[in-house]
Amino acid sequence: MNPVLETILKRKSVRAYEKKPIDPEVRGELLGATLRAPTAGNLMLYSIIEVNDQRKKDRLAKTCDNQPFIARAPLVWLFLADYQRWFDYFIASGVEQLCERQKVPMRKPEEGDLFLACCDALIAAQTAVIAAESLGLGSCYIGDIMENYEIHRQLFDLPRYVFPICLLCFGYPTRQQRERERTTRFREKYIVFEGQYHRLDRVEFEAMFEEMNARTFNLREEVAGARNAGQLVYVRKFNAAFSREMTRSVRAILAAWTQD
Ligand SMILES: Cc1cc2nc3c(=O)[nH]c(=O)nc-3n(C[C@H](O)[C@H](O)[C@H](O)COP(=O)(O)O)c2cc1C
Repeated sequence: MNPVLETILKRKSVRAYEKKPIDPEVRGELLGATLRAPTAGNLMLYSIIEVNDQRKKDRLAKTCDNQPFIARAPLVWLFLADYQRWFDYFIASGVEQLCERQKVPMRKPEEGDLFLACCDALIAAQTAVIAAESLGLGSCYIGDIMENYEIHRQLFDLPRYVFPICLLCFGYPTRQQRERERTTRFREKYIVFEGQYHRLDRVEFEAMFEEMNARTFNLREEVAGARNAGQLVYVRKFNAAFSREMTRSVRAILAAWTQD
């Protein structure tokens, strides 16, 4: 197998790190690879904040749904969907005057621009994940950074057209992490369709979740009041307090982003 595929296939999220700092040269290679990620229109609609202040890491460990390993990660990068840089440059380069001359209103970043910037930031983040793996570094996404927008905005001095879309923790994996099994994935036929979308029916769901249900519910009839994987994911993820906070927080950024 070629080494790139090998790297992709052996990767798993790493949430426990050796107490070993990341060599500046390795960090440099990681960053160089990250910044080569594809980007919409070659605009680089993202920014990265490296979080080195231990007090800020400690804060993130709490504000991102209480995940203490964030505070122990030797390297933490915050990926921001960023239209502020281009919007500021539009102003600096006289776009207001251009619009006045043409007698048209100047457009501000809107919802579509936010989504595109999120795509850019996430693609850069995933490029970092694979590059890190190839350098012997483990990584883990933290999606909970989308929660508590107001706190994170203040903590990192974020302007209006910047949204924290994900956090990445990096570090050398502990032996236990290196040796642990990879997570499984759903089979291709449930995820990849030809030509058109295929909605799954109850029989297909039965087959799709058979293994997961057997693993989780074989010994116990109920887990957290749930009796199958659907109920469990609903309770533990979809309707959990963190998901509801994420929705509130994303609504707040959308309101800030789109207000006149
Ligand atoms: C957008 C996104 C957000 C995630 N957020 C978290 C998180 O907040 N905490 C965490 O421990 N893992 C998080 N993960 C990691 C997933 O739990 C992990 O990728 C998944 O369980 C599959 O395991 P694997 O990465 O080891 O293959 C996140 C992954 C993604 C892609």
